[in-house]
Amino acid sequence: MADTALMDKLVSLCKRRGFVFQSSEIYGGLGSVWDYGPLGVALKRNVKDRWWSSMVHARDDIEGLDAAILMHPRVWEASGHVAGFTDPLVDCRQCKNRFRADDPRIKGTPGQPDAQCPVCGTRGSLTEPRMFNLMFKTFMGPVEDSASVVYLRPETAQGIYVNYLNVLQSSRQKIPFGIAQIGKAFRNEITPGNFIFRTREFEQMEMQFFVQPGTDGDWFDRWREWRMEWHRSLGLDPAKLQWHQHAGSELAHYAKAAFDIQYQFPFGWQEIEGIHNRGDFDLGRHQEFSGKKLEYFDQAENRRYLPYIVETSAGADRVTLTLLVDAYREEQVEGETRVVLGLHPGVAPIKAGVFPLVKKDGMPELATTLYHELRRELACFYDDSGAIGRRYRRMDEAGTPFGITVDGETLAARTVTIRHRDSMQQERVGLDRVEGYIKDKLGATPGS
Ligand code: GAP
Repeated sequence: MADTALMDKLVSLCKRRGFVFQSSEIYGGLGSVWDYGPLGVALKRNVKDRWWSSMVHARDDIEGLDAAILMHPRVWEASGHVAGFTDPLVDCRQCKNRFRADDPRIKGTPGQPDAQCPVCGTRGSLTEPRMFNLMFKTFMGPVEDSASVVYLRPETAQGIYVNYLNVLQSSRQKIPFGIAQIGKAFRNEITPGNFIFRTREFEQMEMQFFVQPGTDGDWFDRWREWRMEWHRSLGLDPAKLQWHQHAGSELAHYAKAAFDIQYQFPFGWQEIEGIHNRGDFDLGRHQEFSGKKLEYFDQAENRRYLPYIVETSAGADRVTLTLLVDAYREEQVEGETRVVLGLHPGVAPIKAGVFPLVKKDGMPELATTLYHELRRELACFYDDSGAIGRRYRRMDEAGTPFGITVDGETLAARTVTIRHRDSMQQERVGLDRVEGYIKDKLGATPGS
């Protein structure tokens, strides 16, 4: 399947099945802002829950945090975002479109007579590049003047840095320790696109690990390994995951070293998570700009120092897109195209469909009882409309790994069939074993 065709099909499936809708669609949509429908919100929540569980629940040395989106404007001066979070842009005087100066579609040098607008094709209409800050601004309080400007955070990390002493003292952690946070971030991206890959409003899952200077290299290596392992545990094709090391010129202003975890999307290898060694840049800057001491007193070493920070920063939307792209496939079955989302059971929005084979002979009653029992602990879907084959297909498209059918034998033998989405094989399982059977599969390693 051609790459663009795959993305088009995925976008259409996402709308049809209620994963993702265009924001404000009835008004013509809003550029690169998307809404998650019933299945999408469940899928993204499963991603976030797995991340939170691996960071906060499974470890003694990481605490959770939920900092506000709006922060003191000085935070963004200290972080370097006011001065440095910019893209060089050029405008077309003819068609009024705006582009990144390094847009590969631009022929010639912007500002020069030979430069050609990629949209209207006019020569010499592109301005010289100008720096454009990617942070969204708003105003706090009743007066809309420069003194009341606040920003919508472009990353969640800064909320962690300014709270690091609060968390350290209240949780009685010692270095090394980490703080994890999931939350919205906003960037006025100039070249957004590829569906939910690059959007203007998105969610980050960030963890900042505070370590003794000198141990940062080791912690950086460990976190790289753990984070790649986490992505593999989502069931992604390991051949489509790779590392990309940032060369000196690519490094962000705060980073000593940086590696991206990349996934091979239909539109090329792209970053889904960054692991950064930020040194003491952030705490040093906040200490300088706030005038508050942010040093840690290390009792074992009997000395004070500013901890170094190893950051892991993943996009919840990007990981969700990665799962959808990785899972989408089409197969020919008995002369028909079967569309399947082969999502790992642990992340699938619906774990099981429950179906009475026919709407008679007590089957709907039994199936409804089973459905109500299962849904106390598992996300399930009850469907009694249409031929059983069509009901299975609808669940295939939603990525539901198991189809449980109550049939003629259920009343007599107290068994149901469980149909496996990927193999389409069915097996008979005792009614009393269904819940345990499905729960076992949710935690199973991908592929087993
Ligand atoms: N605190 C470091 C930081 O924000 P980043 O590489 O700019 O680093 C980290 O972003 C992750 O956030 C990316 O790997 C990506 O998954 C996600 N992300 C960044 N910009 C995004 C956007 N415009 N839309 C969706 N996700 C985005």
